[in-house]
Amino acid sequence: MSIFDKCDAYTLAREVQAMGIYPYFTPIEETTATEARIGGDWKVMVGSNNYLGLTHHPKVLEAARRASLRYGVGSTGSRFLNGTLDLHYDLEARLAAFFNKEAALVFTTGYQASLGVLGPLLGRNDHAYLDRLDHASLVDGARLGVGEMHRYSHSDFDGLGRQLARTPAGSGKLVVTDGVFSMEGTIADLPRLVAVSKAHGASILVDEAHALGVLGNDGAGTVSHFGLQNQVDLILATFSKSLASIGGVVAGPENVIHYLRHHSRALIFTASMPPSSVAGALAALDVMRNEPERRVRLWQLTRRVATRLRSLGFDVGATQTPVIPVVVGDPIRAMTMWRALFDDGVFTHPIVPPAVPEHTCRLRVSLSAEHTDEQIERVLCAFERVGRLMSLQARDSVPMAS
Ligand SMILES: Cc1ncc(COP(=O)(O)O)c(C=O)c1O
Repeated sequence: MSIFDKCDAYTLAREVQAMGIYPYFTPIEETTATEARIGGDWKVMVGSNNYLGLTHHPKVLEAARRASLRYGVGSTGSRFLNGTLDLHYDLEARLAAFFNKEAALVFTTGYQASLGVLGPLLGRNDHAYLDRLDHASLVDGARLGVGEMHRYSHSDFDGLGRQLARTPAGSGKLVVTDGVFSMEGTIADLPRLVAVSKAHGASILVDEAHALGVLGNDGAGTVSHFGLQNQVDLILATFSKSLASIGGVVAGPENVIHYLRHHSRALIFTASMPPSSVAGALAALDVMRNEPERRVRLWQLTRRVATRLRSLGFDVGATQTPVIPVVVGDPIRAMTMWRALFDDGVFTHPIVPPAVPEHTCRLRVSLSAEHTDEQIERVLCAFERVGRLMSLQARDSVPMAS
């Protein structure tokens, strides 16, 4: 028996490659905020998380360029040692104020922020309660801690209450949820979650990855959307979506942030966010505040696309945000549809297990404020053509709404 036997036993990806419907690791040759050139052809990008379309904004590009010239292209060290720039502190101060919290701590990615917060916080005798649909980074973060992780059924707050009630007296308790669920596009019912958590003396962490820039005051996320800043203890967010950069943040009470600064292995044992990414995120925060029309446009497109896909007979679940799943069934069906859309000039993502259950595989469509009406029309027409080819639309679909 060799440690590598499992590698030979893993054949699924090669089988899908042989079928010509392998959707992963596609090399992109050039991009705009809303299109990608692949194999020489431009595709409309509805598979990114570029919600505000800021990746190519002139002010964001200029800030990144200036920071590279001033500090170089890499930080070459940990935040703990030589990797902290004045820019990192600027970004932390800005984000603490933005999320209405005492302090903030910036990590190199959103994924590392989850590991770097949950790992050190969940000590012996501590318990974390995660929604079944929480992002993998939160699950991995909770696994890193020595405390116990519990999963509750999606949005089952009675079930959460029962789990909390069973927790041994004297334990630390943290309820952890996505603000917007990344594969469903639904908004967490934070008022109910807060009520149940507080009734049992639990603290609360909300991951605003897909809500930042999309929901709430100035785009501050679901906690702001519901006006619960004083009830939610910790806010996590990533810069890789609306902020068009890479990096992650936790915002919360000063004593917690101070503790994490000195105990978070995902912060200490890795190099810090590169200068251009920090400057890009700072500039994106400015643009987000100064150009609120981007959020207005994003929501107009969201309503239009969800309505049209529904009227075409597609199952878009209960989506409430610019993340719109089109549920198609099993993995092969999802990848076949992905390929047909790709050939029709549309870049989506097939979402298959373990990200979603086997029979609810989906194409994930995500919108950007920069999408033009013409691009959206191209996407919808491609869905209509491909859906018909695959007989995916419900037979009782109603005529297209305008
Ligand atoms: C809900 C959620 N949290 C965290 C992350 C990790 O963020 P990043 O990709 O910036 O590391 C993601 C990324 O997809 C996410 O969807």
